[in-house]
Amino acid sequence: MKKLHPLIAVGLTLVTPFAPRLFSATPPPPPPQPGAELAGLTAEQSRAFRDGLQVFRVQKTAATGLGPIFNNVSCIVCHSAGGPGGASPRNVTHFGRNTNGVFDPLSTLGGSLLQNSAISAAAAEVIPRQANVIARRQSTPIFGAGLIEAIPEATLLQNEARPSVDGIRGKAARIVDIASGQNAIGRFGWKAQQATLLAFSGDAFLNEMGITNRLFPKENAPNGKAAVLAQFDKVADPEAAVDPVTGKSEVDRAADFMRLLAPPPTIAPSASSVAGSAIFRGIGCAQCHVPSMTTGPNAIAALSQKQVFLYSDLLLHDMGTLGDGIAQGAAGTREMKTAPLWGLRLSAPYLHDGRAGTVDQAIRAHEGEGSGPRNRYNQLTTQQRQQLLDFLNSI
Ligand code: HEC
Ligand code: HEC
Repeated sequence: MKKLHPLIAVGLTLVTPFAPRLFSATPPPPPPQPGAELAGLTAEQSRAFRDGLQVFRVQKTAATGLGPIFNNVSCIVCHSAGGPGGASPRNVTHFGRNTNGVFDPLSTLGGSLLQNSAISAAAAEVIPRQANVIARRQSTPIFGAGLIEAIPEATLLQNEARPSVDGIRGKAARIVDIASGQNAIGRFGWKAQQATLLAFSGDAFLNEMGITNRLFPKENAPNGKAAVLAQFDKVADPEAAVDPVTGKSEVDRAADFMRLLAPPPTIAPSASSVAGSAIFRGIGCAQCHVPSMTTGPNAIAALSQKQVFLYSDLLLHDMGTLGDGIAQGAAGTREMKTAPLWGLRLSAPYLHDGRAGTVDQAIRAHEGEGSGPRNRYNQLTTQQRQQLLDFLNSI
């Protein structure tokens, strides 16, 4: 054990940014920046990362297939906090109709995802009057997503099979992966609605930007109106450009970028954050926010058999009134996927709709299966709470 700085020994809380220096004479190497590629890529993989980043940045226009209805013009506008691939305060809107507990996504009226922009005002989509549920969804960070993708399904099923403690019982999101057509366990998105980065990429190109692609070949009709679509949809489908050299479409290239993105950098532990880590486990947060899982064997060495410190079981939980009221994929209206907590300090505001400006508010808003640990959090002393927040700020 390293000798603690006298300030820590007497129990004072230190300001985190200075803490690492107090622990060793030689400063640690600077951590990789958020948005960097995974360590240990081959030259070819590194090229695929940079090529994918270009696609992730590219701004679509009506001439290159944008819309007719869309939410924004490039991936990076919504995924940039801290670095390319990060979160952002931008959000999107889902709507639907709940009749006596049965959720209807109003697909024939353009639901459940609203596209709030259009290449012409005459094509604009609106929230239909039939909708009685409207929910905002916050952009999530994509750092380390390739590591999350590489965790074997068997591990998620083991998480699901754990005996219930505290009334907490996670559910694996059993869905069909659009990229492979196979049954799979969803792990991406607030509702664990997609199993692979390729499927999410295809979904985002179509549903956020209006770019049709081989996985999602059909354009969204504004509020379901085929005639309006026909009037404004002038670019031949599929619109995602194919690289003549590699034969890869933009959907594949963006997926390459996301798969090869490094996990968010951590901050070196301080005495306070180490104490907070024990509190995190002690009050039951780790029941859902499982600190780490390990990837399986993978053709990409940088993703193979690596420990992934994501702080999530990747399962759906009944979060009671915190649920967003939208049923999607395998998730019911009250069910949400345990949000990974790594990189938390880069992704405010928090929770699926961004209602929490601070991590403290996000924790206090836990309901349903999260109530027990939430109650214990509320009962911590001010110092213990600060230690837990210092820990969450460091991961
Ligand atoms: C208008 C803003 C917006 C744009 C543009 C956008 N996204 Fe997103 N992205 C979001 C939101 C909001 C979520 C959370 C969605 C959800 O779970 O329903 C998200 C989630 C994701 C996730 C899931 C991450 C995880 O770990 O769960 C991936 C992957 C992703 N986006 C990729 C992309 C790609 C690729 C593009 C460009 C083709 C793109 N996004 C464009 C807003 C956007
Ligand atoms: C029953 C499972 C469960 C437990 C227990 C739990 N959480 Fe969560 N947590 C979730 C889910 C699900 C979300 C996403 C909820 C949403 O946005 O609707 C979440 C979100 C969060 C967020 C916001 C993340 C973001 O990116 O917006 C933080 C911070 C958080 N949890 C911390 C904690 C802490 C600290 C504890 C212990 C006091 C805890 N959680 C206990 C399931 C759980």
